[in-house]
Amino acid sequence: MAPNTSQTDEQRACELRRQLNEAAYQYYVLDQPTLSDAHYDALFRELLTIEQRRPDLVAPDSPTQRVAGGGEAITTFAPAPHQAPMLSLDNAFNIGELREWDQRVKRFLGIEAGAAVEYVCEIKMDGLAVSLTYENGLLARGATRGNGTVGEDITPNIRAVRSVPLRIRPTDSAPPVPALIEVRGEVYLNHAEFATINAENDERGIPPFANPRNAAAGSLRQKDPRVTAARRLRSTFYTIGYSEGLAVESQYDLLQTLRAWGLPVNPYTKRCADIEQAIQFCEEWDSGRRELPYDMDGVVVKVNSFRLQAALGTVSRSPRWAIAFKYPAQQVKTQVRDIAVQVGRTGILTPIAVLEPVSVAGVVVSRATLHNEDEIRRKDLRIGDWVMVQRAGEVIPEVVEVVKEDRTGHEAEFRMPERCPICNQPVVRREGEVAIRCVNPRCPAQIREQVIHFASRGAMEIDGLGEKQIDQFLERGLIRDVADLYTLRKEQLLPLERMGDKLADNILNAITASRNRPLSRFLFALGIRFVGYRTAELLAQHYGSLERFLQSNPDELETIPEIGPNTARAIYEFLQDSANRNLIEKLKSVGVVPTEQLTTGGSGPFAGKVVVFTGTLAKYTREEGEALVRQQGGKATGNVSKATDYLIAGEGAGSKLARAQQLQITILTEEEFERMLSSASGEKSE
Ligand code: IVH
Repeated sequence: MAPNTSQTDEQRACELRRQLNEAAYQYYVLDQPTLSDAHYDALFRELLTIEQRRPDLVAPDSPTQRVAGGGEAITTFAPAPHQAPMLSLDNAFNIGELREWDQRVKRFLGIEAGAAVEYVCEIKMDGLAVSLTYENGLLARGATRGNGTVGEDITPNIRAVRSVPLRIRPTDSAPPVPALIEVRGEVYLNHAEFATINAENDERGIPPFANPRNAAAGSLRQKDPRVTAARRLRSTFYTIGYSEGLAVESQYDLLQTLRAWGLPVNPYTKRCADIEQAIQFCEEWDSGRRELPYDMDGVVVKVNSFRLQAALGTVSRSPRWAIAFKYPAQQVKTQVRDIAVQVGRTGILTPIAVLEPVSVAGVVVSRATLHNEDEIRRKDLRIGDWVMVQRAGEVIPEVVEVVKEDRTGHEAEFRMPERCPICNQPVVRREGEVAIRCVNPRCPAQIREQVIHFASRGAMEIDGLGEKQIDQFLERGLIRDVADLYTLRKEQLLPLERMGDKLADNILNAITASRNRPLSRFLFALGIRFVGYRTAELLAQHYGSLERFLQSNPDELETIPEIGPNTARAIYEFLQDSANRNLIEKLKSVGVVPTEQLTTGGSGPFAGKVVVFTGTLAKYTREEGEALVRQQGGKATGNVSKATDYLIAGEGAGSKLARAQQLQITILTEEEFERMLSSASGEKSE
């Protein structure tokens, strides 16, 4: 398609914009692609060329403007208060509960029990709730749900989602577009795209996302909008939060209006004359949901009339006029081919069911954890058994039960091995413990897990050093322990699989950068039994330096609040073991010197204050946030009470936030928390 030379640049740019936006509409909203990817790309490049030559022709709804300004990295997500709260939904876990809800609706409205209320059924999308504000038809703001009252401003990332229109298209077949309107919906990922993202992550040694929902959330909360743009996020819209004069009277009409305006709306919506039709919809989708190319989290049933919705109102955080019908977790039958035994970082042997691969709720499952031997006995599970497996939300698949009727008599009982399957040394079962462990400190399986743990987030955080690389290092004898990481040379890395010049540099730089992590992270990275991130933090605070920690004794350890006798003994035993001592000495000799930590009360704004964290923070894990507070001499606790001084509320804050509001406790956003921290850093630094 050669550009028409008789057209001016202005006309051509306008025409290209129209064609590209129309193609996106056909593809994402009507689900009827009209252009091939290659054709789309060609038009896109042509528009880009014109715009580069004539920057004055760049329009705000140009598809080239999805990742504007070359996609500058976002440093923080600003708070985005919602005009009207973004509510949650009550659940119905079976048809009976759905009927009861219908009765409650009628009772509340003063309608007789036998009469009918009209409902709309919609697919409950399992994605991330978003709010989009359009000003004069143009996309002005995109925000997450947050705690329902305040979300996060993710406008650059929302613009990077190709299925989100940058401009609402006015049409004669729908009411005029209000000057200001906020639409709400869900951003999600198709299974195929989810698989692609995980495969790419795997290549780079990044752990996979557990499910499409997490992957969608991770993609939307990216600091780099270009990453968001590269992921084919889908979106669907179903409600409005706020609008200036919109003449629509029912949910069903609203969905038609949104679709006519060019916003993606899920096609599987149904207007139902009464609850029985709604029930039929739910039942039909019980099997239908397995064929959908995305995850479905149930059915949302809504009272159709907006007048009736207003009369019903909301109770606590959920509207009375809607309910989420949830299906029971999907269980699938499959056969146990074998029971394998995995050796973890601390030497614990975990039995794993090796399954005939089956698809459970859209994900192929071939292994399930069996926890320990007692659990296998309790379920009376044998090799060759048919079992029901389920994947409930985020957790690893589990074996629910054995289908005893399917036994043929050829099933084999399983015994835990008496020797470690990796190093062949005898295993032990400590008194009072269900776990069986390999106690050989040189067991390769343990070393592998130790290195993975050592490099992980929260520990030494060596970016880019994934399991794939670690396995290769171990297989080729490049490392025998974590200290060897620090003497790796580039020429040793280059011959490895999938290793380029740049990646090798990145890995080596990341290793170097980890030499001076704070003491708490170093102690956590050592992988001492019972010493999680929090305990490591307490130890670092108490001892302040590695040298002082190395001289600790069980009596002193036990005086540290929150450290019990078992942990104290485990630490002591760890330090008594010459192999561990040697490893620490070796780490020191290769230049790993953890940064000492403040042990005194501190004088910052959190000194002596009681702080509670709730919800998810963007920049820190909860443990890291708590550690920062403790570093300043503050106390971090789990529950809001009258003694609490500050509540730090992240994304998705719920009951703790409500309780803090009730008790009139000072609530800080993540930004405010950061500002307070940095206001203290002047006094804190050496
Ligand atoms: S209506 C006041 N409709 O489910 C009603 N929500 O559990 C608010 N969701 O936060 C939502 N699909 O993120 C509605 N068709 C749908 C939905 C839907 C998914 C999500 C939404 C909401 C959550 C509540």
